[in-house]
Amino acid sequence: MDRLLVAYYWYVLPIVCEILFMSSAVWDATNYQEQFDYVWQYGESLISQLAPQAGERILDLGCGTGQLTQAIATHGSIALGIDSDPAMIAQAKANYPSLSFWTDSADSFQLSVPVDAVFSNAVLHWVSEAEAAVEHIVEALKPGGRLVAELGGKGNVQTILTALEEVSGEANLNPWYFPGLGEYVALLEAAGLSVTYAHIFDRPTPLGASGLAGWLTMFGQRFFQHLSAEEWTRLVRQVETKVPQLYQDGVWVADYRRLRVIAIKV
Ligand code: BEZ
Repeated sequence: MDRLLVAYYWYVLPIVCEILFMSSAVWDATNYQEQFDYVWQYGESLISQLAPQAGERILDLGCGTGQLTQAIATHGSIALGIDSDPAMIAQAKANYPSLSFWTDSADSFQLSVPVDAVFSNAVLHWVSEAEAAVEHIVEALKPGGRLVAELGGKGNVQTILTALEEVSGEANLNPWYFPGLGEYVALLEAAGLSVTYAHIFDRPTPLGASGLAGWLTMFGQRFFQHLSAEEWTRLVRQVETKVPQLYQDGVWVADYRRLRVIAIKV
């Protein structure tokens, strides 16, 4: 009996805990792919700015379920994708088995062979260690290589955030990194990049069939793990009633503000 207990505490319990932790930490990749396709559809115009060339090695940093990695590969480039979430990587591999995907974090990844370009769409605002991410990007680039990235800029989804803060009673809630243009350019330059393009702009974004509730649940619920399902649903409804101006012609439209940059490793 004692041995059974020891085995339970040493071997079984840690595995159960890890499974429970993983299931709360990973994204719902299937739901993401089906309901949030606008994320990579908007990213397609960023690929035009990347202008991938045949034979170039290009890293898609935060590739999610791989749609933009595949779009880069259609230009004849050698496209690689990394994402910190194993569920996203599993889905990306299932979607595009001929491409290389692996799990890695933006603030600590390293490549054995440097790339011609690092591409990143709607990911860097999830990385609180922004300086570390930029350092690893610079290290991953060949001299003359380019970073082409879009992230949420200062003021991104501010209407939603303010409502969320008011309803939850949590001040300064913003769990994301939404830098101003000058701040981000300075960060890139300090890391040894020469910034050739930087633009911050409003991009009101229709949230698709799952609406504001679906958006909040996919991207925000992880920060409210202490709430029960019923409490979360109530909070979401309260947020909705706070921001009727975002409900336009039968569609929820989020007040996205984007920051786009192109920078060269000197
Ligand atoms: C964005 O793409 O700007 C974004 C998405 C989810 C949460 C926060 C920001």
